[in-house]
Amino acid sequence: MSDEGPMFTDKGLDGFDFDDVRPIYTPEQIQAAKAALAARKAKKEARRQEFLAGIDQQIESLGERGYLRVASGQLPCPSCANQDHVWFEGDSFNCWCVKPKGWFNLTKALVPRRYFPQMVLLGHVKPSEKSIASIEFQQRAIDAIRANPHGSFAFFGPAGCGKTALSMTLLSMAAMKEAYAGRTHPKYGMYESAHIFRSSASAIVDQHHAYITASDDDDQVEIPDITEYRIRNTTNPHVFIAEFEKIGNLTEFRYKTLFTLVDACYETNGVQLVTDSNLTPAQFEAHFTDKIMRRIAEICYVADYFSESITEPTGK
Ligand SMILES: Nc1ncnc2c1ncn2[C@@H]1O[C@H](COP(=O)(O)OP(=O)(O)O)[C@@H](O)[C@H]1O
Ligand SMILES: [Mg+2]
Ligand SMILES: [Zn+2]
Repeated sequence: MSDEGPMFTDKGLDGFDFDDVRPIYTPEQIQAAKAALAARKAKKEARRQEFLAGIDQQIESLGERGYLRVASGQLPCPSCANQDHVWFEGDSFNCWCVKPKGWFNLTKALVPRRYFPQMVLLGHVKPSEKSIASIEFQQRAIDAIRANPHGSFAFFGPAGCGKTALSMTLLSMAAMKEAYAGRTHPKYGMYESAHIFRSSASAIVDQHHAYITASDDDDQVEIPDITEYRIRNTTNPHVFIAEFEKIGNLTEFRYKTLFTLVDACYETNGVQLVTDSNLTPAQFEAHFTDKIMRRIAEICYVADYFSESITEPTGK
């Protein structure tokens, strides 16, 4: 104790011989210590791999049906008993079931009952007698979506041909992407940060109208669901604007609102735009101008149920 004091004065340190306390290991000792550490790490890694293989085994043994039942909450998760995380030697991981649950709950919240669940699994979607379109063309439209599940699509076709049904399949695929990007919650589906914006054309113009005509002290008015700002400032947003024809008279304000949104999708990289109308492409162009139609054709696969044609994006 008595010689501790001086060490912490400048004088004491000056007089301290550092070489005295530097440990001297032999190269063999250093080698042995390194080898022991490497062996411990390798053993732990082997145990970790075994643990992960066990989880893969659990997923495997569920089969596709069981996997979906876990995702939907009908069956407790065999890996985490619905605790959402699993433990391995003191480390906790998010369980594999978190993402499928997030996808399922987000999709369930977004897709109306009449399309759920039959339209939400891309692998299971098949042409239907309920659609007024030919089975052959339905199959071609489904194939186009299978080939580009995150692509932009514009559906033109008469009421009842299946435009909304296939839009819901694309919406489900977008929800899957959001879930795998970690932007969904296993129980509540959507975090505010999920990059999916969805509205009908008429609702979105009404929302924009209410927003700009609200008085300054109106704190009830909400920011519209789809805005130019959101499209331009979100990474890879999914923009779903349904039923273009239902907006009625195309006033200057309505035209400008729709043009601004389509143009934002057109100008921003990585946007998925999904839209539909029961007009023919020619009628659509006559009604909404070639400026909107050209932008849609350049970025979207255009599925035209009237002429039974599918055209690739013409490119910018
Ligand atoms: N591939 C499909 N599988 C199952 N049902 C379908 C399919 N395509 C369309 N339908 C059904 O046909 C009906 C009309 O489709 P919908 O998408 O609502 O038409 P649209 O939006 O073109 O008016 C709906 O009841 C829908 O559930
Ligand atoms: Mg529809
Ligand atoms: Zn789990």
